[in-house]
Amino acid sequence: MLTTVEKVLFLKSIELFEQIPGEDLAQIALITEELTLDAGEVVFEEGEMGDALFLLIEGRVSVRRGDRVIAELGPGECFGEMAILDSSPRSATVAALEEASCLKIEREDFYDIMAEKPEIAQGVIKVLMRRLRRSIGHTPQEA
Ligand code: CMP
Repeated sequence: MLTTVEKVLFLKSIELFEQIPGEDLAQIALITEELTLDAGEVVFEEGEMGDALFLLIEGRVSVRRGDRVIAELGPGECFGEMAILDSSPRSATVAALEEASCLKIEREDFYDIMAEKPEIAQGVIKVLMRRLRRSIGHTPQEA
């Protein structure tokens, strides 16, 4: 299990929180819950309602719509943000491709920290834009 300091170091390394100073990350670290995933374990299924987002620490996950794999995500990436932002059902099934670990943040807690620190909303928008650009085949160097 990660200590709070290790969680802060991890949070510091990811795009979602790149604008957030260390002392604020400590507060965010406290609302996260560490989860370990076995290879093949499904985190959630397409169509389910969702109330949390996940930050991948280690390992890779697949993102599947129907029987098509639309993305694979690795360390430092987030998933599950869409359903908590617009209260729609999960757009895809996410499953671990190998043993993995992640941090889970509940919707209510995420809304609280976004309200306090608008830079977090900017981080989320960046992630969503990068995925949108990729989905239309636009992949600029810096993205
Ligand atoms: P959500 O809809 O809550 O649940 C499925 C998740 O898969 C979604 O949030 C995103 O985090 C992720 N996801 C969906 N589509 C893509 C994509 N095209 N690229 C990367 N991740 C995606």
